[in-house]
Amino acid sequence: MADVLVTRRLPDGGTDPLIAAGHRVVGGTQEGAWAPETLAQAAAESDGLVCLLADRIDRAVLEAGVAGSLKVVANVAVGYDNIDVAAAAELGVKVCNTPGVLDQSTADLAFLLVLAAARLSSEAEADVRAGRWTGWSITGYLGRDVHGATLGIVGYGRIGRAVAARGAGFGMDVIHHARTPTGEPGYVAELDELLERADIVSLHVPLTQATTHLIGARELALMGPDAVLVNTARGAVVDEAALAEALHAGTIFAAGLDVFEREPEIHPRLLSAPRTVLLPHIGSATSDTRTAMARLACTQVCDVLAGRAPAHLVRP
Ligand code: DGY
Repeated sequence: MADVLVTRRLPDGGTDPLIAAGHRVVGGTQEGAWAPETLAQAAAESDGLVCLLADRIDRAVLEAGVAGSLKVVANVAVGYDNIDVAAAAELGVKVCNTPGVLDQSTADLAFLLVLAAARLSSEAEADVRAGRWTGWSITGYLGRDVHGATLGIVGYGRIGRAVAARGAGFGMDVIHHARTPTGEPGYVAELDELLERADIVSLHVPLTQATTHLIGARELALMGPDAVLVNTARGAVVDEAALAEALHAGTIFAAGLDVFEREPEIHPRLLSAPRTVLLPHIGSATSDTRTAMARLACTQVCDVLAGRAPAHLVRP
């Protein structure tokens, strides 16, 4: 029996694998953020740690953990930019994530943003709710057609492909860019070319040093005034200040964002930007998917603690 720290409350049934394996679940009730020192102290008393993307698992937490008996950290997320993976490798702590189980839900949400941003549905709904809608107008709320448009997918992993499939289903011409050639139809080797050709760009890259501010003022200018940008990956992939300026200036048509550079803070110029759909990082937020993510993370903790190879080991 091991002690497994679960940093926050998980969906019902999320910790079942830990309980079934006979481990003691520590925590698992907190909703909000941990103070760094408290988290480090709790890690020092745990054999395994199940955390969320909002928990910062830095070197200090990992060092405190290995001073005790911490062996594994499992992130209930596919992205793991909140974990110092290099420090974990150096300290011999295994890191796991939860790819696969959230692909379709996240792709659904990305496509929701494609449609909502292109068709200006947030602004239109806000007007209805605020009593500003004065009746049908032939020139009101004129968006961009999604059918027949070119959808540019940046990052062609599982989620990018699932969004591409939805685009094809909507009659879009789908192109994609990835660092290494995919050998598949629609591959565009240069990001700049994809940005110039696509009417709607959807981002699906992990956040790394190389992808931080991948889309900035220069790239937005390449996209042009009719383009729509959708981000369900990580906020810092986009230079938010530059995007806000482009939206205010009308040098980009619209944006749909589920992720932000400093969550839960949102750049004030984005909050006031026109033609912008803002969601609170809900890409994977369905009961089934979030439960599956929690169970997958907990199962991998059980695997590592039992000396088995976990399904999704993250390497630096
Ligand atoms: C992830 O898993 O990285 C997502 O952002 C959570 O929805």
